[in-house]
Amino acid sequence: MLVSVILSGGAGTRLWPVSREGHPKPFITLPDGESLLQKTALRARKVADTLMVVTNREYYFRSRDDLAAQQLDARYLLEPFGRNTAPAILLAALAAEDTWGSDACLLVLPADHLIEGEEAFREAVNKAEALARNGFLVTFGVMPTHAHTGYGYIQQGEALGEGYRVQAFREKPEQAVADRYLAEGGYFWNSGMFCFTAGHILSAFRTLQPALFEKAEACHRASPEAKALSGAVEIDACHFEACEDISIDYALFEQAANVAVVPARFSWSDIGAWDAMAALGQPDASANRFEGEVINVDSHGCYVRAEDRLVAAVGVEDLVIVDTPDALLVARKDKVQAVKSVVAELKARK
Ligand code: GDD
Ligand code: MG
Repeated sequence: MLVSVILSGGAGTRLWPVSREGHPKPFITLPDGESLLQKTALRARKVADTLMVVTNREYYFRSRDDLAAQQLDARYLLEPFGRNTAPAILLAALAAEDTWGSDACLLVLPADHLIEGEEAFREAVNKAEALARNGFLVTFGVMPTHAHTGYGYIQQGEALGEGYRVQAFREKPEQAVADRYLAEGGYFWNSGMFCFTAGHILSAFRTLQPALFEKAEACHRASPEAKALSGAVEIDACHFEACEDISIDYALFEQAANVAVVPARFSWSDIGAWDAMAALGQPDASANRFEGEVINVDSHGCYVRAEDRLVAAVGVEDLVIVDTPDALLVARKDKVQAVKSVVAELKARK
């Protein structure tokens, strides 16, 4: 049994004004009209026997509709609020163990990644599942292109089956450390996708994070099947609040001994900010990419997303322009990481 656990959380503040609390990143649509969540679920369904979506309870109906539009369904684990990836994955593993037993293999996929290369993805999952069944906690490694400090770094060890043992895992290193990793070579970026059996991940949590494990178990026992929502479990808010807000990278992967990595030979992007959206699809002869109704006169290197009305760009260069019914973003392409400051400013004003 292979269960794909889809993590669908996080507002993705660098993709404001399209990604908001009420409309987070997984629901953003790409040029082909599919949302990131739909793409993830379709990709997952091709390799896994069943899907489990972990998301905020506010997004239950929206997620179910998105999946239904692709003739897909899933079980849901509904969070009252975000508690980061360690509690989300831990509760998913407890639910999976209850339903399918501790040999059930979990393939954890964030709902906001863009992956191309279906066959290579399938191959990587098969290799990961084999290693997971041998007791490893498996990561998928991406070849780094620059010293990004927002990713985890995986140091490749000896060959192991169809992957490698992980010598060391370091989450979000300082710039100087990331620079050194890149100069030395032998490191992957952590893609944020994982594969392990329910039994092995639970025993890693039990050993390395005993307090969190105990709280999550109590939370699991206190979280009933939702009566009004079919196929969904609503996580008990009181018990969930007691669980530490920590990512699985810090909670487990930096410390666990039995970690393996399978190199990703598919193309991967975590669509972190607008420059990644701008790079999708085919640009025109002037390196622009437009979505929606756009008139261009002599603009170069621009990404324009016109959601609701006509946008005209005249003689501008290297800009990101995102127009939505109630907010307009105009940013220099090399400054798009700072869009998250707009969200911080908006929050401060509330
Ligand atoms: N359901 C749920 N609940 N999902 C969550 C929660 C939560 O509380 N917190 C995060 N997620 C989802 C996010 O929506 C995202 O899809 C994924 O889990 C990873 O969380 P991020 O918050 O985006 O993590 P990150 O980008 O800082 O770092 C992770 O991903 C990198 C690759 O994109 C780490 O795994 C890094 O090591 C990795 O390089
Ligand atoms: Mg991320």
